Amino acid sequence: MRAVARIELGAVRDNCARLKAELGEAELCAVVKADGYGHGDLACAEAALAGGATRLAVATAAEAERIGQRFPDVPLLAMGALTPDELDTALAVGAEIAAWRHGFLEQVAARARSQGRQARVHVKYDSGMGRLGHPDPDGVLALLRICAESPDLEPAGVWTHFATADELDSDFFDQQLERFSALADAARAAIPGILVHAANSAAVFREPGAHFDMARCGVAVYGLDPFQADPAERGLRPALALRSYVADMKRFRPGDSAGYGQTWRAERETAVGVLPLGYGDGVRRGLSNNAQVLVGGRRFSLVGTVSMDNVTVDLGPDTDVAPGAEAVLIGSQGSETILAEDWARRLGTINYEITCGISARVPREHV
Ligand SMILES: Cc1ncc(COP(=O)(O)O)c(C=O)c1O
Repeated sequence: MRAVARIELGAVRDNCARLKAELGEAELCAVVKADGYGHGDLACAEAALAGGATRLAVATAAEAERIGQRFPDVPLLAMGALTPDELDTALAVGAEIAAWRHGFLEQVAARARSQGRQARVHVKYDSGMGRLGHPDPDGVLALLRICAESPDLEPAGVWTHFATADELDSDFFDQQLERFSALADAARAAIPGILVHAANSAAVFREPGAHFDMARCGVAVYGLDPFQADPAERGLRPALALRSYVADMKRFRPGDSAGYGQTWRAERETAVGVLPLGYGDGVRRGLSNNAQVLVGGRRFSLVGTVSMDNVTVDLGPDTDVAPGAEAVLIGSQGSETILAEDWARRLGTINYEITCGISARVPREHV
């Protein structure tokens, strides 16, 4: 195959079991937005549920529609901001709705009424992320009261999101947790049984006191490390491998160049292999002369500029690689492994962006 992202669903299931072991009584909500962080949302949601997740979360209404239609009996939270039309879409599949403004609550109530249903609402507190959420705990409690008093609304949850859970030397996490804990106590007193949630993957590993009733985990579900280290350190297994093959090979003489802009020249005689994938597939151009590829269980340097549809690899002067050989860009081959975290480090980004960035042109093969 030209290029394929192979997703091992057993890894998704095991990663959820690992998170669930960490969480104890608290529920695991698997975050499957952005096509399951590029891993394929429906298949990964199913694997996550098999691994112990009892809830699902997405960002957008279109995602809610896809997931809600497939898993009608699993509580689903739409975490993002929604326009009135999007609200209709999300409510129609029974998704639970995030809210933090009075005007929006009125819209939720009106739309729910018109659909003949009661909307389950999770009121969001902005405890310091500076993004979505009501910035004032009393305002959050007031919104929860409105939900409780409205025949069209049900106060289902109170929640927040951490800005620095993955930064172990930051004490801002503790400040957010302290602010939210006080609100959580008040919300529980006002609305017994309300679902309290705050933790993402990093917070689950970092602080049991942040688990509350449920954690919303994305990155760790897919076996990516929330702290950008080796996922194995936390008992996580990467689910995704990005594979291609050596489509062509050339003998290079000293001075011959590969790719746009001649950014790499052979210093000795060598064999250069061409893999038929590039930045059109999510192999970012910043990996030009800045990545490794596994072929035949060994590491080789990606040389030259990453093109839209091709990359070139220096296979060395005495290569026994033959055209057609499998090439692994992310994942394992023999005893060698390249992690999404390795790419992220080279690119100055995070593993999330690597897997989300593998484009729709790359088929996802679930095994
Ligand atoms: C509101 C919210 N909760 C939870 C998550 C899951 O976070 P993570 O993938 O770090 O576990 C995200 C993802 O960005 C999010 O936006």
